[in-house]
Amino acid sequence: MRRPFIAGNWKMHKTVPQALELVEELRGLVEGEQGVEIAVAPPFVALHPVAQVLRSSVIKLAAQDCFWEEEGAYTGEVSPVMLADVGCAYCIVGHSERRCIFGETSEGVARKARALLNHGISPIVCVGETLEERDRGEALHVVGEQLGGSLASLSAEDMVRVVIAYEPVWAIGTGRTATPQQAQEMHAFIRRWVVEKFGGDVASGLTILYGGSVKPENIRGLMAMDDIDGALVGGASLRATSFAQIVQGGKG
Ligand code: 13P
Repeated sequence: MRRPFIAGNWKMHKTVPQALELVEELRGLVEGEQGVEIAVAPPFVALHPVAQVLRSSVIKLAAQDCFWEEEGAYTGEVSPVMLADVGCAYCIVGHSERRCIFGETSEGVARKARALLNHGISPIVCVGETLEERDRGEALHVVGEQLGGSLASLSAEDMVRVVIAYEPVWAIGTGRTATPQQAQEMHAFIRRWVVEKFGGDVASGLTILYGGSVKPENIRGLMAMDDIDGALVGGASLRATSFAQIVQGGKG
């Protein structure tokens, strides 16, 4: 049985005082929860202060991105060593906003995933097609290519610590969520892909999150699908009450 996993991606939202207020409220709402993995991904500058609030909490800390080198002359970058130091258990890599706005490639995502695993952090590897790609009937092909490129350097042992997030670009921040059936179709494709590359044991243990306009109202329908193990939540993770409701829905 895979444990449900609900993660909040705060993107470029919340100053440090706002982040602390949110996480303190959230802690009060979800602290007793069992049987569900919960994580929040604040902006870099809030990671350390949020980590202090989350000490001995069930809520895990995640980063939104990283660079693959450990240290050096890479102005503006943050390394997996630094993320491990502040207590990150997870780090999102390859989010479509990074791929589309900042030109991130699957090759770069693969290097980041490798570096994170070397430092004990589980990568949450994001994949997903644009609306044009879906309309052209290329969604499965595009996601297959992203998986191949992003997970290229990993072994089956590595994959046990990887989380995959399917986030169709057309559903992110648009209010237009994929239907549970559309999401399930892609999640099943992703799991089959992982069976072929890494074997059935890895695939059956793999956590695959759905992301894209997840809300308290649609989480249960998504979670009812066989291959949807949780959610990567953007906008609805910015309020403690709605994120806590999604956690509740995620528990089933
Ligand atoms: P929304 O939930 O705001 O659509 O964002 C999804 C997302 O991109 C999470 O990483």
